[in-house]
Formats: sequence, structure tokens, C-alpha cells
Amino acid sequence: MRVVSGIQPTGNLHLGNYLGAIRNWVAMQDSLEEGSEALFFLADLHAISQPHDPATLYRGTLEMVAALVACGIDPDRSVLFNQAQVPQHAELQWLLNGTARMGWLNRMTQWKDKAGKNREGQSVALFTYPVLQAADVLLYQATHVPVGEDQKQHLELARDIAQKFNNDFASEDAPVFTLPEPIIPAEAARIMSLRDGSAKMSKSDPSDMSRINLSDDADTMAQKIKKAKTDPEPLPSEAAGLAERPEARNLVGIFAALSGTSVDTVLTQYGGQGFGVFKPALADLLVTKLGPIRDRFVALQSDREALDAILARGAAKARLRGAPTLDAAYTALGLVRH
Ligand code: TYM
Repeated sequence: MRVVSGIQPTGNLHLGNYLGAIRNWVAMQDSLEEGSEALFFLADLHAISQPHDPATLYRGTLEMVAALVACGIDPDRSVLFNQAQVPQHAELQWLLNGTARMGWLNRMTQWKDKAGKNREGQSVALFTYPVLQAADVLLYQATHVPVGEDQKQHLELARDIAQKFNNDFASEDAPVFTLPEPIIPAEAARIMSLRDGSAKMSKSDPSDMSRINLSDDADTMAQKIKKAKTDPEPLPSEAAGLAERPEARNLVGIFAALSGTSVDTVLTQYGGQGFGVFKPALADLLVTKLGPIRDRFVALQSDREALDAILARGAAKARLRGAPTLDAAYTALGLVRH
């Protein structure tokens, strides 16, 4: 088993990243058997696909390393690295560009959402971004990729690219790439904005009130939950009663994911209660679960030497792990290098 996943180091790590992905990374890391390995990385090359401020990206990348370690990613057990320190990702992307089809990329909903009506004005990187994501996982022969629901389509594309490459350039008994499997959590696969139950919680939302950041202190978290959009009805006693209430469903979903139970179990306890009771309980739970992570994050964030050492060690390991597959891809394509 080879687990691989990445996160863009733009902005703060938020509750959606944590519940949708990072918590799962830690669980998978902690349950790996002998001979299996996990690789987790900061997808900084992805972050330049949209307008960005270089100084903010630089700082954000180091902060995100601290955040991942604070969440429980152990750099002694997992390979934790930054994409720009492992040039094989960009190299493999170029090789895969020969296999990926324009039509496949045109169908990516994230591309359609982000580009909107202004496709002509977007960077080429925003369009080819999913090919880099495919390279990220195929480079390491990933078998399992823990992600939130929004990345499912990108993983399907990675499988299509791997399959077509193997088909076109490798023999059936010696494929160059492994087809990766997305691992998506049952609860919390899609955490929504606190201001709008129809938009996902996101680093790029201009309103900081729309998300809980892992760096928020207890008062800020409580304020954000207090101000979160809801409706005037009390909570129902069964999950079906939340179908037409996206904001209420989101908050109950967050409670369930944080406490490790199901939505129905939460409603058994809080059904019939109003938000005046439920919101303070949710805020307390958030502070209990995220407080220790925040404390570790704050302590680590200022230790630049430790962060640099983690990244250097992780990148060296990642380069070694990726080398054989990249060689095999060059050879399969008939490219002369020796
Ligand atoms: P990114 O940086 O947007 O998000 C990192 C992880 O967090 C999950 N996530 C969410 N889950 C639930 N609810 C939300 N509101 C929410 N917001 C984010 C994402 O699904 C993701 O798992 N393209 C990727 C980064 C990437 C990657 C990869 C992932 C680059 N290469 C290779 C896996 C494998 C991205 O932008 O994720």
C-alpha cells in the first residue's frame, strides 16, 4: 500500500481540509503495515496556477508544514515534503501532457467553476493543473489517495491518464503506472461555508467568517459559530429532516465528524433543540478538538530551522521514491537520456 496526498499551501489550513482530508491522512499513516508508506506534500506548484503573492506563498508553505505536523503527520514515519523541492513532479507532468486529452481537462468541474466565463483570460496552468495532480500520485505508484469529495474527479482523471499511458506505451504484464484509488470520508467529505450552505468551505473565500481556521483562537472559533448562518427551526430528530436545510446540515455534520459519530446520533441528542443550545455545544467541541492542534502549530511555526530540516529530509526521500517510475516513463516513451 502506498498512500499519497497533497494540499495547496495557500492560506490557512481550515476545518474542511482537516475533516475532509488531513484527519484521514493521519489515520492512514497511523494504521500502515510494515512495507507500506505514506507521502504527504505541499502542492506549491499548484498554487501558481492562480494569481498569487510570492511572499505570501513562501510564508504559507512553511506555515502549512507546521500545521500538518501539528495535526499529527509524523515526519519520521511519513515522507513530508514540498513539491517544488522534488522536480520530478513537473517533469512527469510534461510526459503525461502527451497522454492527457484536451476534452478530458475541459470536463473538469473545478476548471469550469474557477474559469467561469473568462476562459481566455486564465493561465495555462489552471487548465493543465489536473495533469500535474496526476503526476503527483502516479510518480509514486500511489494505491490510495485520501481526499475530500471535491478532488474525486481529479483522481478519476489520474486513473484515465495512467490507463491510457499503460495501454499506449507499456506491455500488459509490465504497466508503468498503478491506478490510484481515492479514499473519501463518509462524514465530512464536503464541509460547507459557515455563511452559505451551498458553497464549500474554502481558503479562497474572501470572508474569514466563512471558515474555521486551525490557527483561530477559542474566542474567534466561538464567534464564527455564533454568527454562522442558520434557520429559525429547531433541529429535527432524524437526518432526513435536514435535507432542505443546508446550513443546519453542515453544522450537524461538523459536530458528527468531530465527535466521531453519525449525524443520526447527534440528532438523537439535539433533536428538538434550537441553535441557541446547539451552537455553544458545537463551539465547545471545536475548541476541545482543535485547541491542542493550534497550540502545537503556534509553537512549531516559529521554529524555522526545524521546518527546513523536515522539508530537506522529506524531499530527499521523495526524490528517491519517484526516480524509478520517472525513468520507466521516459524509457517507455522512447526518449533518449543515456
Ligand atoms: P486543497 O488544497 O484545496 O485541499 C486539500 C484537501 O482538503 C480537502 N478539502 C475539503 N474537504 C471537505 N470539505 C471542504 N470544504 C474541503 N476543502 C478542501 C480537499 O479535497 C483535499 O483533499 N488539488 C488539490 C491538492 C493536490 C492533491 C494532489 C491532492 C495536488 N496534488 C494529489 C491529492 C493528490 C487541492 O487543491 O486541494
